[in-house]
Amino acid sequence: MSFWNGKQIVIGIGGGIAAYKSLEVIRRLREAGAMVVPVPTPAGLRFVTELTLQSLAGGPVHGELMQPRQPGEMDHIRLAREADLVIIAPATADLMARMAAGQADDLLTALLLARRGPTLAAPAMNPAMWSHPATQRNVARLREDGVRMIGPESGALACGESGEGRMAEPAAILEAARRALTPPILAGRRFLITAGPTREELDPVRFLTNHSSGKMGWETALAALRAGAEVDLVHGPVALPPPPGARLLPVTTAGEMHATALKAWLEPRDGRECDAAILTAAVADYRPAQRQPEKIKKEHEEPEMHLTLTQNPDILAELSARANGRQVVCGFAAETGNALERGREKLARKGCDLLAINDVTAPGCGFGSATNIVTLIGRDGWQESWPLLPKEEVAERLIRALHALLGQRHQT
Ligand code: C5P
Repeated sequence: MSFWNGKQIVIGIGGGIAAYKSLEVIRRLREAGAMVVPVPTPAGLRFVTELTLQSLAGGPVHGELMQPRQPGEMDHIRLAREADLVIIAPATADLMARMAAGQADDLLTALLLARRGPTLAAPAMNPAMWSHPATQRNVARLREDGVRMIGPESGALACGESGEGRMAEPAAILEAARRALTPPILAGRRFLITAGPTREELDPVRFLTNHSSGKMGWETALAALRAGAEVDLVHGPVALPPPPGARLLPVTTAGEMHATALKAWLEPRDGRECDAAILTAAVADYRPAQRQPEKIKKEHEEPEMHLTLTQNPDILAELSARANGRQVVCGFAAETGNALERGREKLARKGCDLLAINDVTAPGCGFGSATNIVTLIGRDGWQESWPLLPKEEVAERLIRALHALLGQRHQT
């Protein structure tokens, strides 16, 4: 079931040109299964029409404070209090000033004054208005009041200027919304995650690699970030948008991945060591013994060509061996038959705490797919088998398992 299924979201729309992007936010939330109630300010309704909002949200639009209610229509104040989340997008300078002052001179600000639950604002305005001390004061006040902020971003603005003030993109707003609704069970924790394939060059134009898409690692990073962790994401070449808030450490070869992951594992950053490592990367086990500086030529009279390969360092085994007793290491094992038995043997050999085993030949599993069937095994014969699940859900369960294990470690 989708995370958004059945969630009630109020979306407040201020009077700014970025209001057109809020339509996309509404569309995506509805598509994901959420119930969306748009509450535009009178100025907001000059940028997007009631009809557009109604069509996208699939329900009534609430705009005016002193409007007689239809029989059976939900009380606006109750709605603001009961909604899972209120998103204000765009949050204009004027709207934030009124919110910070506790005004209630239109329906949206009245709702916000009655609101106690999670509230997210996506500011959008001209860069000079954004950097003005009055706006910055209001933003600081709103943060103190518990309002979360997403953006603004830097870039070209509708007013023709360029700078900080552009509203965050719909995907970023949705991700921030999701984080606002996720219990921060990993707050204060630092996670190291490896993802994607590696590339081992034969010569300047050719390399050895595999089919890893990086999806499982990406979902794992997103799940850890949503739970409040700091995430170092060491990744090979992938075609995925960066998970917002992750510290990206791009690498190409297994050797680079090894060096980068080890550094993150062993060196505290700002006095904080890594609490856990989840190694989802499909690391090449071997690399060409020698990378040729020039493109290898075809030898016309030789029907065969032989490559000599050298073994790469095993990152999972090394991180496990160098864990300090508080740190938890989780590996992945893509198997093709006898998965559990091989998994047990691998867990013991690599010395990790957890191993997520999946049979990549099972339908719906493996490289590039959006779903996976995983059995998570631990030491002392512990195991948990999960049904076919979206990788997003697999990642969430994995994060919960690591959280539980970290809790045990820190108790003893
Ligand atoms: O031995 P195998 O490649 O099946 O092990 C898979 C697990 O080990 C994955 O978690 C993978 O990220 C990790 N691994 C590693 N370094 C390697 C090979 C695999 O960290 N050189």
